[in-house]
Amino acid sequence: MLIASADAASVKIASRILATGGLVAIPTETVYGLAASLEHESALKRIFEVKRRPSSHPLIVHVPDAATAGRYVNSLSTDATKLATAFWPGPLTLVLPRSKLVPDCVTGGHRTVGIRVPSHPVTLQLLRELGTALAAPSANRFTQVSPTRAAHVAVDLGHDVDLILDGGPCEVGVESTVLDLSSEQPTILRPGGISREAIELVLEQAVLTPREQGSATPSPGQHHLHYSPRASVQIAAPTEIWKIAKHAMTEGKRVRVFASKRPTFGCRTIEPVGTTPQDSGSEAEPLDYWLLPQDLHEIAKQLYSRFRDADRDKIDILLVELPPSTGLGQAIRDRICRAAGLS
Ligand code: TXA
Ligand code: MG
Repeated sequence: MLIASADAASVKIASRILATGGLVAIPTETVYGLAASLEHESALKRIFEVKRRPSSHPLIVHVPDAATAGRYVNSLSTDATKLATAFWPGPLTLVLPRSKLVPDCVTGGHRTVGIRVPSHPVTLQLLRELGTALAAPSANRFTQVSPTRAAHVAVDLGHDVDLILDGGPCEVGVESTVLDLSSEQPTILRPGGISREAIELVLEQAVLTPREQGSATPSPGQHHLHYSPRASVQIAAPTEIWKIAKHAMTEGKRVRVFASKRPTFGCRTIEPVGTTPQDSGSEAEPLDYWLLPQDLHEIAKQLYSRFRDADRDKIDILLVELPPSTGLGQAIRDRICRAAGLS
């Protein structure tokens, strides 16, 4: 396994590896992707093996611009063009009827394709250099937490990838919004980096979620217990969270709390996660917590790293408050609920 800092020379090397059927972990603004060229069926199949992912789960196709996207879909509808103009490059995946250029193994046999233009400059440069589309799911094993740093990919996929391009920490931190434009009414299959409100503003119409549409299966590959750390994630109300934490600690559990407010009890100064709490005399175990930032973008950016930190620190129980459900809050709530085994 090789991690390369993403400069012009390593982008060229990555392009050669992809052009000859290799796998490269690429930085995007959302999460790191495990990429293969659309022209190498054996590499595309290797993605499923490396991820240990069922072959029926479709992969997202990444292209450098909307004009190129047009080659991989039957046609870019008026709605698709409006959204592409507003949000590409960026964290929005459009599901549209596919063209013949998309191999069956990418779409899991579906007649549609999920396609997006990522905004990370390194991956845009790579796509232009390569001159062909890249299929890329998140670069983690099936059902585990998506990587938002090159080091996460190295831990997860180790020697199973030919090169990891290190483009720094991902700016958005949760995956793209997947919007189905192939059916009667636009439907959000997965909330993500572009909010429902922003999409509705551009389309000047309401969009649905699968639940509102009454569909039992949201989207192929959208399972509960996705995005899961090993710690048991439990959702708690702000008024209860510290009480529950204290109780779990008295039972000998290693507990961490993601809360919007500091605890009101005790005289100890409690430092954020990652630093040693300063105990002012109490004999109790120090409480360990991440004070959730006010800014939802900052929560999204850090969330997966914080899940991973909890596993590194062998936390048993992760007590988490849900943020408000507006804007990016929808995607954050979705990921926390899935990590907790709810969907
Ligand atoms: O932000 C992202 O979207 C990242 C980066 C790497 O681009 N990719 C990503 O891919 O999250 P993945 O494979 O982990 O999740 C893609 C999800 C699938 O689980 C599926 O729900 C949906 O996108 N999807 C893709 N193609 C689809 C299609 N043709 N129809 C319905 N859903 C589709
Ligand atoms: Mg994924």
